[in-house]
Amino acid sequence: MGYNRVRFNNFRNIEPREIKWSPGLNLLTGPNGSGKTNILEGINIVSGWGPLERGTRSSSLPTWNSGSSEIQLTGQLDDENGEIIKVKISSRYTIKIEEETITATDLRWKIPVLSFLPNDMSIIEGSSVFRRRLMDMVLTLIVPVYATRLHDYRRGIKQKTAILRNGGRTDLIDRALLPLASWIWKMREEALVMISESMKEMCGLLPHPTEISLLRGGSGSLQLPEEDFRYSLKINRTREEVLRVPVVGPHRDDMLITTNGTPAARSLSRGFRRRVAVALILAAAEGVKRKLGKNPVLLLDEITAELDSEGRNILFCALMERKTQVFASTAEPFTESFPGRIYGVNSGRVEIIDEN
Ligand SMILES: Nc1ncnc2c1ncn2[C@@H]1O[C@H](COP(=O)(O)OP(=O)(O)OP(=O)(O)O)[C@@H](O)[C@H]1O
Ligand SMILES: [Mg+2]
Repeated sequence: MGYNRVRFNNFRNIEPREIKWSPGLNLLTGPNGSGKTNILEGINIVSGWGPLERGTRSSSLPTWNSGSSEIQLTGQLDDENGEIIKVKISSRYTIKIEEETITATDLRWKIPVLSFLPNDMSIIEGSSVFRRRLMDMVLTLIVPVYATRLHDYRRGIKQKTAILRNGGRTDLIDRALLPLASWIWKMREEALVMISESMKEMCGLLPHPTEISLLRGGSGSLQLPEEDFRYSLKINRTREEVLRVPVVGPHRDDMLITTNGTPAARSLSRGFRRRVAVALILAAAEGVKRKLGKNPVLLLDEITAELDSEGRNILFCALMERKTQVFASTAEPFTESFPGRIYGVNSGRVEIIDEN
């Protein structure tokens, strides 16, 4: 499962032409600012995940000074039907498959993609937002109602924040949040079990035994999610009233990642942190494949940064093992043999420079 070809029209600095991709590993190489991340972003969009959060607005997506505000990204799937997906972004956002309009959710099932752009290291080093994002991305792909329920929960939390700011009572909104919060906890815990089970050998990518678990936001003293939510709200009521923000619930969740019993962000070198981050993404991909029966396409930015030659070879071995389509980028000079197709990116122009 993957993309045969993708066409970029009026998208950032990418030259408007069709690029053919290998069904296996695709490595984008080129200097800083050449457009590697832009290409990964384009593939992210044509897979239903939208533009990257890089502090830019969607109005900055069209090529500067092109005179047009409409972007069109077209991808052809490499399955037997070779279906064409078109995503247009102008004042509206439209997604079509074979000229039929579909939703982003349906597109994500059609072609599951897992990405952690622009920086997979944030899974280990960044705030809890990034670790929640990994769990949510996986669950969005494997549980049909997850995205809707998460959206409803977030809306409820916004309402609760407004109530707390106005000094009002939160009993009613807490009652409405209870089933959503406890369901999201249950789903996230199941997702982490699934990812843990898939974190196996991976060519030695994981430097040490690594464990992951959910830290329920502002909670975690009781095992049953419903009881835990209720109890934690009770003991945190005064705190919420004083702080005027909801402190209990999945919006405050984190994922604890430990290697040899110590948090990975503290105990590992940068190279090993990157290896753990990629291992988590690969394990998530394996879990998605087992649930959906489809191997997700992987988008990985700056893949070789901080890795020594042995680390790179282990990484390439682990990627090959997944037997899925991978789009990866690197700005570093590249000397090892690479078991896939290498593209050179220069000022937005993409060319195949090596094929194995
Ligand atoms: N809307 C746009 N129109 C034209 N060029 C753009 C637009 N948005 C961004 N750019 C250009 O795209 C380039 C950044 O591309 P990108 O982030 O993909 O580079 P990169 O190859 O990933 O670099 P790095 O190795 O530093 O990560 C910058 O040179 C920026 O000027
Ligand atoms: Mg980049």
